[in-house]
Amino acid sequence: MKERLLLTLKENKGTWVSGEILRSGLSVSRSAVWKHMRKLKEEGYDLESSPNKGYLLRGVPDLLLPQEVRYGLVTKVFGNKGIIYASEVDSTNTLAKERALKGAAEGTLVIAEKQTRGRGRIGREWFSPPRESIYISTILRPSISPGEAPRITLLAAVAVAEALLAQTGLRVHIKWPNDVLVGDKKIAGILTEMSSEMDAVNFIILGVGINVNVPAFPEGLKEKATSVLLETGGRHSRKALAQQYLKRLEEYYEHFRKARFPIILKRWKELAHMLGRQVIVEFGGSRVAGQAQGIDSNGVLILRDRKGKTHRIFSGEVSYLGKSRRT
Ligand code: BTN
Repeated sequence: MKERLLLTLKENKGTWVSGEILRSGLSVSRSAVWKHMRKLKEEGYDLESSPNKGYLLRGVPDLLLPQEVRYGLVTKVFGNKGIIYASEVDSTNTLAKERALKGAAEGTLVIAEKQTRGRGRIGREWFSPPRESIYISTILRPSISPGEAPRITLLAAVAVAEALLAQTGLRVHIKWPNDVLVGDKKIAGILTEMSSEMDAVNFIILGVGINVNVPAFPEGLKEKATSVLLETGGRHSRKALAQQYLKRLEEYYEHFRKARFPIILKRWKELAHMLGRQVIVEFGGSRVAGQAQGIDSNGVLILRDRKGKTHRIFSGEVSYLGKSRRT
């Protein structure tokens, strides 16, 4: 109901809409209209009301509120089923996991404006200031074996990179397995967590963080991280970027579900510019240097070391050898 009222106000943005029109158009009582309007004001909408003229929407808050994410969204499932929204949360992945354990459906999103304990890969912290970035975790319930799960990370990296390309024009690229970079600085990261049995996945939490309007990063991070604002010099709509991401995520997840993973892999390779390059990969306490030869159909990195030995690496941290390049 609140969403339908908002829609009418948005269609008439900047002009007064009488309470009577709202009431009769949506077949609700005057007091119900009033209650929803109060809620919208509390959420940050710039709404004026007058006993004679009705209601006037002057401005929409720069927040990733569920109704804002849904407004203009072209997906069928992601963003159009459940959205759990929090102005502050420890980690959207943690909350999504709690909800998944309680049975939340595939496609449920957890979105927050701020994380107090945002988590990165390998136990790292994810810098999560309020209202400047995107923090979205998606609950997925694919019918796959645990070994296929890394494919989800690859498809998410493609969705994030393409969303950034489309929305900001930035020349982003992917660093295996799931970092999205501009030059050699990270602009987005993906944390995929899984609950599974030996042979089947129960659910996957796909957490994505995109640094959008972050004006500066703390010491120790500023050499490694960047944001859309820092790269383009201008603020960008988090909502539009989140919608682009969800649209592509749905598209690529559909390819994945319909056994069309080669389409995703091809796109991943185009965006990764990594194959053939000399790299060092650190994993599980060891490190191997060599040439990145390829990615197999499950996203495993194939690396040939200097002695010609081939390594299959499931997860790790890549650094490029030689001069880094702005792509
Ligand atoms: C990485 O590159 O290390 C992964 C970073 C993932 C960050 C996102 S932000 C939303 C979700 N919630 C978390 O706590 N982490 C992921």
